[in-house]
Amino acid sequence: MKATEIKPDIFWVGALDWNSRDFHGYLIEKGTTYNAYLIRDDKTALFDTVRQGFKSDLLHHLHQLIEPEKIDYIVVNHVELDHSGCLPEMIELIKPEKIFCSPMGHKALLEHFHRPDWPYEVVKTGDTISLGRRTVKFIETRMLHWPDSMFSYIPEEKLLISSDAFGQHWATSERFDDEVDPGELMAHAAKYYANILLLFSPNVQKLLAEVEASGLEIDMIAPDHGLIWRRNPGAILEAYQRWSRQEPKEKALIIYDTMWHSTEKMANAVASGLLEEGINSVKLLHARKNHRSDIMTEVLDAKALILGSPTLNNNIMPAMADVLTYMKGLRPKNKVGAAFGSYGWSGEAVKHLSERLDAMGIPLVAEGVRIKNVPAHETLKDCVELGRAVARAMR
Ligand code: FEO
Repeated sequence: MKATEIKPDIFWVGALDWNSRDFHGYLIEKGTTYNAYLIRDDKTALFDTVRQGFKSDLLHHLHQLIEPEKIDYIVVNHVELDHSGCLPEMIELIKPEKIFCSPMGHKALLEHFHRPDWPYEVVKTGDTISLGRRTVKFIETRMLHWPDSMFSYIPEEKLLISSDAFGQHWATSERFDDEVDPGELMAHAAKYYANILLLFSPNVQKLLAEVEASGLEIDMIAPDHGLIWRRNPGAILEAYQRWSRQEPKEKALIIYDTMWHSTEKMANAVASGLLEEGINSVKLLHARKNHRSDIMTEVLDAKALILGSPTLNNNIMPAMADVLTYMKGLRPKNKVGAAFGSYGWSGEAVKHLSERLDAMGIPLVAEGVRIKNVPAHETLKDCVELGRAVARAMR
């Protein structure tokens, strides 16, 4: 790959990771990128580095532009190791005059690398530095994605280097939003939001309000993962407004597992009830056939979460426990819920599923439906009725 000029004398110098498939339990089916940026000016600054194992890519791109030893500053917008894994080696090589980081970044760098001797320069929201023709304005963005996270804004270029925010896990040779299919791009951005930032939605709301109030002019957003928003940065800002409000669509998910297809028959009957009551967007998501992170992407704009599991050893199926543990951590809001399941003798699964919904603050709209062994036509009517009840509660 090659260094890519994104604005005059500002370059993408990151690395493509075509082969990673797992990011802390999130299926990144098309790999990812670790974006780093270089501004060449009177002072030359490198914004973030890359994950360990990708240093040669970063160096390959830097060498196309400058001898790395001539870089003056390193800006650490985010300390998570996908951006700082190569930082110690790069500091060793570059010997930067200054390393800019947020107050929490300073703390995190010390706790990760144990190098109090590095030339830190702690910056806060509103602080600026001059590189010569360009200025860098720092904006702390706590919890987007870690406490240390910050943005770097270049006012002369209306460029926002946005760290994890507005990213996508997608390895591509293209660097800009206008070079790829916009639907696929937004789908990757939505999956990224649902699986990484959803729980920080209140912080996203606050940040977007601050950005709007500050009158910051933005004509390019360069995140640390995925494509750079050049054609229409407003599209991703608008999407973040929508996703962070967690306003659901009229869409129901039936998330279930099944042992001998009895709970699956119940799932289909629940779907019939939803459809009969006029809900057109209904998805059945088998917990062992859909990855937890793809289920979360569907959860992002769903109104109803209807959970189904047979009873296994007095409990729920392990794949359901996996999905629900993951989901709870991401704190979905503005949903309604219900539970169902078949059982052989003890039948605790519906109670457990109901408790899981309750623990997520998702109200149950009707009593759960339990069916012993294999459902019959008559007992399936209870599942249809459950679907109808959920549909009515969705409006
Ligand atoms: Fe891409 Fe929070 O690191």
